[in-house]
Amino acid sequence: MKPGSDPAGLTPVLPFLQVPVPLLAVSGLTKTFNGFTAVSNVSFHVEEGEILGLIGPNGSGKSTTFNCIAGMFPPTAGSIRLGGEEIGGLAANKVCHRGIGRTYQIPRPFHNLTLIENVALSAWFGQQGKADRATCWRQAEDALALVGLPTGAAARTDGLGAAALKKLELARALATQPMLLLADESLNGLDHGEMEQAADMLQRIRREKGITIIWVEHIMGVLMRVVDRVVVLDHGEKIFDGAPRAAQSDKRVVEVYLGVDAGDAPDA
Ligand SMILES: Nc1ncnc2c1ncn2[C@@H]1O[C@H](COP(=O)(O)OP(=O)(O)OP(=O)(O)O)[C@@H](O)[C@H]1O
Ligand SMILES: [Mg+2]
Repeated sequence: MKPGSDPAGLTPVLPFLQVPVPLLAVSGLTKTFNGFTAVSNVSFHVEEGEILGLIGPNGSGKSTTFNCIAGMFPPTAGSIRLGGEEIGGLAANKVCHRGIGRTYQIPRPFHNLTLIENVALSAWFGQQGKADRATCWRQAEDALALVGLPTGAAARTDGLGAAALKKLELARALATQPMLLLADESLNGLDHGEMEQAADMLQRIRREKGITIIWVEHIMGVLMRVVDRVVVLDHGEKIFDGAPRAAQSDKRVVEVYLGVDAGDAPDA
């Protein structure tokens, strides 16, 4: 604004009038594969410090939504804004360097590297190769300790069970020093205690690191204890966005997600 062009004297109050920008804002996201619509016009946002649950039945478009946000493939349509800046269509490495870390539903660590080498490599990559070896090592130890895996130089990936592989996946994502973590945490293959542990771990990550989290899952019960808000997808469309408690009694969510009439719904 030019000097003297503010006759109403609004300049000092403008910061108070500004609407805060959400950390992540997804708007009208659509992804098609050869004419098949996997994600259809989905909009949601995540506030800084939130844990958002992104849930829905198998094939409802959760991982595809993550893949679009994380730059695995470009959206067919729609916008993805991080801190107000468009990131839709950026390559995965650029999205990572903007501060989004992600885990994969199917962990694929480098089996020829030790645990700490796997995680230190992520730290190095996340900081665009600019952090020195000692820093990457320290960050890797920190991430491994946070998820409860051994930090010793001799610990290897061979023989890790499903729960430990998911922890390693989390440690690798955390080592990239993200502000937003996309956790594609299919809890399939974990027993109840391990699922509860995974939920506690995400809470600890937010508490100790201040990282905002979107947690993708199709098992509703464990997640509901931990998330602040939940977005429900079905056949690529958003069918609910609100409080976990409200989702559990929402007729459409209960019918579509649990595949039963609302009146017969079990406790999720
Ligand atoms: N790369 C791809 N090419 C073609 N179709 C795909 C591709 N990725 C996903 N799909 C399809 O898009 C739909 C949504 O898949 P997506 O993996 O996003 O579901 P999901 O909600 O993560 O399911 P799950 O709970 O089983 O992990 C499915 O029908 C899937 O087959
Ligand atoms: Mg998936």
